[in-house]
Amino acid sequence: MTCAPRKILVTSALPYANGPIHLGHLVEYIQTDIWVRFQRLKGHAAYYVCAEDTHGTPIMLKAREEGITPEALIERIGAEHDRDFADFNITFDNYYTTHSDENRYFSEFIFQQLQSKGHIEERTITQAYDPVEEMFLPDRFIRGTCPRCAAEDQNGDNCEVCGATYAPTDLSDAVSVISGAAPVPRESEHYFVRLADFEAMLRDWTGSGRLQPEVVNKLNEWFEIGLQDWDISRDAPYFGFEIPGTTGKYFYVWLDAPIGYIASFRHFCNSSGVDFDAFWAADAAAELYHFVGKDILYFHTLFWPAMLHGAGFRTPTAVFTHGFLTINGQKMSKSRGTFITARTYLEHLDPDYLRYYFAAKLNNRVEDIDFNVEDFVTRVNADLVGKVVNIASRCAGFIEKGFDGWLSAELPDPALAQKFSDQHGVICGYFENREFSRAIRDIMALADIANQYINDVKPWVIAKDQSRADELQAVCTQGLNLFRMLVTWLAPVVPQLADRSAEFLRHPLATGSALNQLTKPLIDHQIGPFSRLLDRIAAEAANAMMEDTQLMNQNDSADPSGRHLDGEPISPQITIDEFAKVDLRVVCVKAAEAVAGADRLLKLTLDLGGEVREVFAGIKSAYDPAALVGRHVVMVANLAPRKMRFGVSNGMILAASGTDDAGGIFLLAPDEGAEPGMRVR
Ligand code: MSP
Ligand code: ZN
Repeated sequence: MTCAPRKILVTSALPYANGPIHLGHLVEYIQTDIWVRFQRLKGHAAYYVCAEDTHGTPIMLKAREEGITPEALIERIGAEHDRDFADFNITFDNYYTTHSDENRYFSEFIFQQLQSKGHIEERTITQAYDPVEEMFLPDRFIRGTCPRCAAEDQNGDNCEVCGATYAPTDLSDAVSVISGAAPVPRESEHYFVRLADFEAMLRDWTGSGRLQPEVVNKLNEWFEIGLQDWDISRDAPYFGFEIPGTTGKYFYVWLDAPIGYIASFRHFCNSSGVDFDAFWAADAAAELYHFVGKDILYFHTLFWPAMLHGAGFRTPTAVFTHGFLTINGQKMSKSRGTFITARTYLEHLDPDYLRYYFAAKLNNRVEDIDFNVEDFVTRVNADLVGKVVNIASRCAGFIEKGFDGWLSAELPDPALAQKFSDQHGVICGYFENREFSRAIRDIMALADIANQYINDVKPWVIAKDQSRADELQAVCTQGLNLFRMLVTWLAPVVPQLADRSAEFLRHPLATGSALNQLTKPLIDHQIGPFSRLLDRIAAEAANAMMEDTQLMNQNDSADPSGRHLDGEPISPQITIDEFAKVDLRVVCVKAAEAVAGADRLLKLTLDLGGEVREVFAGIKSAYDPAALVGRHVVMVANLAPRKMRFGVSNGMILAASGTDDAGGIFLLAPDEGAEPGMRVR
């Protein structure tokens, strides 16, 4: 069953360092992580690298707006991303940044290689320029009146009202969203990569089975239109790498971003001793895979292989493209209140639930997948808790109580175990081909069979008859062996459930090359005590996550173009009767503590002047718990209790903050003299 281990390098696209990780991003990181974990559990040398994508105009402007340096911004966001990925158990071997020495080195190297081979051309172009900010404007920073339908305040390149697409110069009364000034045309010298030089090589590369069929179709359309030169330079002010030999010209962020894959791996090799050239030299034997979303296909299937080839590196073995995540059937959006961040999810729910749900929906095609809250709760509860964990909980108690944890020396129904083993190749084949939904479907069909077995043998009946002890031990051993196989297959998907199961079975399921040991039965072996392996998702917890998302999205007035309103817009009017429904009270903080596993939350014990409440508050970044004890603050006393992942929150305390927490969090406090329990009106 053992073949020589493969050497595999895998990447996910680098998230931009100017906003939080959200559920859409997680489709990709979870998909990639499941695949990488699968490869490792098959005994292969699979490395997974990624990085922060730190350069470009939006990041420069966001930092400026916050009054900090871009370096400080990318550092702060990078730390947030790190925690989000760690908490979703994404197992990067290296998570780096594109703002690194290694990345500068490889960007310059690749540029110089392309230049020396004549693939770079300099040309003067005319672009929109903001005379006040003294900078060229990317399309998304220009707005104006649609030339077709005359709708006001439309994007620089398309109209959201009539759907027209155009150039920013076609807009009537165009304005810069940064300064409000009217842009003027201005000339500048730019560097271009002559993509058409690579047409033969690209046709060859894209045509050799390394891309999904629908991606190949897309590429053929692009080949037919003809490959356009690619503008790889930007003028100052810009946050990025200055092009050697120029002043005030920078590499466009999309030039150095994919090079970040190489730079991150280089950095990993430096500390791990892994051989860099075995993965990146032109004749490298190792496999190289990029997981990407459908929106960034062009960059990864045309520009990127051309750059690699032109600079003398190997090209990717394959690019795996996935579709987009929708929420309840619609595009994720702040205005709909469906922009769910990784952090908000984690405050309410276990990461394994989402990993499982995505796996159950993902296939190897470029299809969008939908997150439907009700379906999510039902599916996870029915499958993971109702089917898989249920098998263990129906058998474990008898083994623990009656046999001191010892499994029998033989399986009573080896044919049934064999029936499971027979599916091993099929299930692994599905994982290998990224047909996760099929793998899950097969695993759950086997879970049904395992539950049926237990229904048929009825251990609870056997247990009543002292003389049938051996039989009881044997059937429960059988059940636990089936459970063990199911969880081993699921280990890449739900690593925490697998870890807890491994601890209970005292047998590795999610470590080493467990997927190669699966068909050997677990017999004559002492297992540990059974504890809850996974709780059902409480519908209230999922709903609370959606409510929090809605609240946070409402507070966030930044629109996706990076344009900011002057402060937050005022919410729709309410009557005084409506306001009077909100019961605000002065409370005294009796105790405050950090919550293990929650990096924004503090658990507060509040005295309402007699009654005591426990409340979770997302203020950890701004307040030291010890310093809060004894303070008087204001709470919403009649907010319905909310189930969080770490307990129930019985109310909410009030604090001021900007569009995100970056500008600080400020608790509201009454003037001296107010007593706990006093109503605030
Ligand atoms: N920084 C670039 C990638 C550079 S790779 C050299 C970028 N960043 S991103 O943060 O916008 O997106 C990161 C990845 O998440 C992309 O592959 C993108 O397709 C994916 N997704 C972002 N939103 C998504 C959904 N709503 N659904 C699924 N994937 C999505 O692009
Ligand atoms: Zn229009």
